[in-house]
Amino acid sequence: MKRTAFLILALAVLSASHAARRADYRIIPLPKSVQTDSTQVFTLSDGMGIAYDSNDEEQTRIAGFLAKWVKEATGLGLTLTPADSKAAIRLAIGAPATKKGRKAKAEVPLTEQQKEAYTINVSAKGITLQARQGVGLFRAAQTLRKSLPAQAADGQPVELPYTTIQDEPRFVYRGVLLDCARHFFSMDVLKQYLDMMALHGCNQFHWHLTEDQGWRFEVKAIPELATKGSIRQETVVGRNTGVYDGIPYGGYYSQQDCRDLVRYAAERYINVIPEIDLPGHMQGALHVLPHLGCTGGPYPVRTYWGVSDEVLCAGNPQTMDFLRTVLGELCDVFPSKYIHIGGDECPKKRWKACPKCQAKIKELGLKDDGKHSPENQLQTWVNQQVEQFLAERGRDIIGWDEILEGGLSGNSIVMSWRGTKGGIEAAKQHHRVIMSPNVFGYIDHPQYKDEAEKIPTAGRYIVSCSKIYSFEPLIPEELQEDEQQYVLGPQTNLWTEHVAFPQHLFYMLLPRLGAMSEVQWCRPDQKDFQDFRNRLTRLTQLYDRIGIKYCRQIE
Ligand code: ACM
Ligand code: ZN
Repeated sequence: MKRTAFLILALAVLSASHAARRADYRIIPLPKSVQTDSTQVFTLSDGMGIAYDSNDEEQTRIAGFLAKWVKEATGLGLTLTPADSKAAIRLAIGAPATKKGRKAKAEVPLTEQQKEAYTINVSAKGITLQARQGVGLFRAAQTLRKSLPAQAADGQPVELPYTTIQDEPRFVYRGVLLDCARHFFSMDVLKQYLDMMALHGCNQFHWHLTEDQGWRFEVKAIPELATKGSIRQETVVGRNTGVYDGIPYGGYYSQQDCRDLVRYAAERYINVIPEIDLPGHMQGALHVLPHLGCTGGPYPVRTYWGVSDEVLCAGNPQTMDFLRTVLGELCDVFPSKYIHIGGDECPKKRWKACPKCQAKIKELGLKDDGKHSPENQLQTWVNQQVEQFLAERGRDIIGWDEILEGGLSGNSIVMSWRGTKGGIEAAKQHHRVIMSPNVFGYIDHPQYKDEAEKIPTAGRYIVSCSKIYSFEPLIPEELQEDEQQYVLGPQTNLWTEHVAFPQHLFYMLLPRLGAMSEVQWCRPDQKDFQDFRNRLTRLTQLYDRIGIKYCRQIE
C-alpha cells in the first residue's frame, strides 16, 4: 500500500511540474476561439528565434517586446532573426493567405474590431502570430506572453500544445481612468500603468489632469497654472477628518512629459484621452486666475475632498478665452480624437447669484422649460462653445453624464458614471456612450468586505472582482439593438483621493482590471466567474514575475 501511495504521489508531483512547463491559452481576457490539441506539443527552447520583417517598424518593436516578455516569464532567451529564416516563432502582418496560397481580397474596409484581430497557430512548424495590422500583432504577442508558465523563469524548455487561436475584441473602446490630480504620479508609474493596461488589452487611457486639488497640465501661455495651480498647501487626513497634514503637495506634467507619454502609449496601441474638467472642479485654476470665478476669490488650491461651489464664471467672456487657450495647447500635445471636458459636479449656487452669469442667461434667452433649469442650459451653452472649438480641430468631446442635464450638445459622447441611467438616456437620444458606472467600475472603492469594514478611507460600497465581472455594458433590458450600437464600450476609473502611493495604486488596479478586461473583450456567453478565477492563477504568477503589487483577496 505504502509503495502505491508513494508512486501516486510521485506521479502527481511529476505531472504537476510537467503542467507547469506547458503553455495554457485560456488567458485573461479569454480569446474568442481557442482550439487546442493537447496530445501534441511544440517545444520552445533557449536560443530559438523570432522571425520578423526588420523593415517594418511595428514588427521590429513587437519582436523586441516579445523577446523581452518570453525572457521575463520563462527565462528563455530568444534571438531575433530575419523574416525569411527558419525560426520557432514567426510574426506576420497582412491579410491572411487563403488555402490556395493567394492573398485574400481585402477591399472591404475593416471594422475597428477586425483591425485588432489576430490568429495564433502552433504546430510542428512552430508558432505563427498573424494579424492584419500592427495592433493585432501586438495583441497576439500579449496572448502568447500570458499563455506561458511564469512561475519558474528558469530557462527550461516550454511545451506549447498545438492550437489555433482566433481573437478580436467585443468593444472598440476599452478604457481605464487614472486621476493624477488628487494625487500626482510620476512618469515611471504612468508608464507601468500603461503597461498593465496593454497586458489586459485596454486601449484608451483617460487621463484626469485637473482638479480643485491641483492643476497638472503645463499651459505655456499661463505658466502659473502649473507652477502655482498644482500646489496645495496641505492635505486633509483621511475622509475629510478635519485634521490636516501641514505638508505642501504638488507636481505637474510638462508638455514634453505629455508628448513622451502619448508616444509610449501609442507604441502599446493605447490612445491617451486628456481631461480638462470644466466648468466645475476648477479651483486649481481659479487659485491662479481668481477673476474667472463668480465671486473674484481668493481661492486656495483645495486641501480637502468633495465638490466645490467655486466654479468658472460662465458669464465672463474671459472664461471662454481661457478655455480656448488651454484646449488649444491641449490639442497641440494630444492627438486623441476624443477630448474629455468633464462637466460633472458643477454646483449652480454661484451662477444663480452672479450678475454676469444671470446676464448671460438673459442674453441667450434661456428659460426653465420644465426639464432643464436656465443654469443647466448655461452649462450646455459652455459645452457647445467648447465643442465647436474642438470640432474645428477635428476632435469630439466626451463629458460626464451631467452634460445631459442642460440638454446634450451636438455630437457629444456621454460617459455614464452615476450608474447606467445617463448612458441609457444618451443612447436612446442616439449619442455615443461610454459606460463607467460607479457601482461596477469605480475601483477606488474597496474590493472585499473586510477591507470595507477595517480601512477608514475605504469607499462606501464594495466593487469586487465578481461585481465588476457581472457588468453587461449593453444593458439589454433597457436598450434595443439599434440603441446598443451607440455604446462604444466600458471603462474602469481609479480616483485617487485616498490613493497616494504607487504600490497602493497597483493594489487597487489589480486584479480588478483582469475582471474588467473580460467585460471589455469577451462576449457574454464566454463569461464564467469561477472559470475566470481559475484562469487568474496564471495571470497573478505573471504579476509576481513582473514584480507588481496586486490584491490577493478575490471576492
Ligand atoms: C465623477 O466621478 N465625479 C465623474
Ligand atoms: Zn458668474
